[in-house]
Amino acid sequence: MNQQIDDLRNQAVASLKTIASSDELNSWRVRYLGKKSSLMAVLKGLGELPAEERRAVGGQANQLKKELEALLKEKEEALAAVSNLSTGGTDVDITLPGRPANLGKLHPMTLVLHELGEIFASMGFEIVEGPEVEWDYYNFEALNIPKEHPARDSMQTFWVDAPPGENGWEMLLRTHTSPMQIRVMEKQKPPLRIVVPGRVFRYEATDATHIPMFHQIEGLAIDKGITMADLKGTLYEFSRRFFGTDRRVRFRCDFFPFVEPGVEMAVECGVCKGEGCRLCGQSGWIEILGAGMVHPRVLEAGGIDPDVYSGFAFGMGVERIPLLRYGIDDIRLFYSSDLRFLRQF
Ligand code: PHE
Repeated sequence: MNQQIDDLRNQAVASLKTIASSDELNSWRVRYLGKKSSLMAVLKGLGELPAEERRAVGGQANQLKKELEALLKEKEEALAAVSNLSTGGTDVDITLPGRPANLGKLHPMTLVLHELGEIFASMGFEIVEGPEVEWDYYNFEALNIPKEHPARDSMQTFWVDAPPGENGWEMLLRTHTSPMQIRVMEKQKPPLRIVVPGRVFRYEATDATHIPMFHQIEGLAIDKGITMADLKGTLYEFSRRFFGTDRRVRFRCDFFPFVEPGVEMAVECGVCKGEGCRLCGQSGWIEILGAGMVHPRVLEAGGIDPDVYSGFAFGMGVERIPLLRYGIDDIRLFYSSDLRFLRQF
């Protein structure tokens, strides 16, 4: 009899461990504590046992009953706790995996601008920004592009329909970052070294290489005795750091009314290494900036004496840079907000 009660306990405890729902627990209760359970049969049959045995078996059986009842209660509570947890008391199942937070990241153009800014900052250039809506005085006139000058036509301009400023200045969306050369010279006296990253606007039809809004980074250095050698040294160093030491750099003569002499700088195409391919239009080179020695008239317009000071300036098209680096063949991809494209950077 003793053995029978022990076996019963072992069986009941073992099967309780496998139970995971209240339905299962109910069957367990019926099986081990119900009216027709073996334990109840033992208890009912006590009367038929001899007195001595009755006491021993009765004690054991009653103890087992109490024990199983306690285990039942414990299990009931455990199951209730789990179900509260999973429903949170509502119909939300908080045990489901969470939705991943959608982390944003910086736009490829922002990343490139940061990288360019860091390189020039490490060479002692201060990073400044300027207004995207400008006066024609800063955008053209003070840069040696008078009203009737044909160079105005090379920059298709978005004019802003606004009341004129001082001296009848007209308002426009800046077509380049060069107006900041004048704004900085008006406020800061040499020696000065600045770079100006920012958006510029041109009234042009959109295609794979043209968009009406793009970015430039302007550079300006003015001091006593600055020469073309400083300009070339600075831009060579920039190219080495940004594109690597194995890319050749080419300077050629170019014309911009606000520099004299003027040059354009091209970097060897990174895709074909100078052989000629689709990206570089078979030339092996990609032009990335215009530059030159600041024109004396521009220094004067900025209130700086051209007999004492000289300087260089450059203006780089920023979209070109990631196009070159990653071999992207359509500039519009940067601004079409297609996350499949943007997430790659
Ligand atoms: N502002 C010129 C452009 O947008 C580039 C440039 C800047 C050229 C500075 C010379 C010096 O085309």
